[in-house]
Amino acid sequence: MPADDDESEWRQRAQKYIKFGTVTDKNVDQLRKLNLAIFPVRYNDKFYSDLAAAPTQAYTHLAYFNDILVGAICCRIEPQEHPAFKLYIMTIGVLAPYRRLGIGTQLLQQVLHACALEPNLQELYLHVQTSNQDAIDFYKRFGFTTGEVVKDYYKRIEPPDAILLHRVAPFPVLSKEEQPARY
Ligand code: COA
Repeated sequence: MPADDDESEWRQRAQKYIKFGTVTDKNVDQLRKLNLAIFPVRYNDKFYSDLAAAPTQAYTHLAYFNDILVGAICCRIEPQEHPAFKLYIMTIGVLAPYRRLGIGTQLLQQVLHACALEPNLQELYLHVQTSNQDAIDFYKRFGFTTGEVVKDYYKRIEPPDAILLHRVAPFPVLSKEEQPARY
């Protein structure tokens, strides 16, 4: 059997082990450890306390493989002229051994779905390190377009420059069948 078929069969079989959940006071420390393992940037205590205390958990999701935390997407609401707001994706990450199983896709799709349900939300955006072509390609698959390069956006990593990516409404809705399993 060609390698491609093996890979898609493994990906298919893996789906039954993948489940999603929300951030709470109880698991936010696990999220901190996950992000430390994935990102070259260290996020401060406020980053995590704000996530756990957010008024809605619709824009931050945790991904589990066989009940082990392996990925997360973390977003922040940015108020614009009332009642409009933007959503900023602070991080999306999946532990390396669990990549290319569709977990990143499902994390982002759940955020896009939540955006589709919120008429006051017109734009979703984020910064990506200019060298992170994998992430840029990943976002382009979901209709994000690249914008300006922000020089020296990052303080302690090389290269320090970031590229802006954004996507505007309408956002795709997940049908009931497409919505992934959750705790
Ligand atoms: N190279 C090229 N394309 C890639 C890719 C890579 N390394 N990783 C994902 N893609 C594209 C592919 O088209 C892929 O579809 P395919 O596997 O059918 O070809 C598609 O994105 C979806 O991949 P998926 O399996 O859903 O994503 P993932 O679970 O592997 O997670 C990231 C993607 C970006 C979250 C993951 O690579 C990651 O955690 N990277 C490190 C952290 C990071 O850079 N985050 C972004 C900046 S905050």
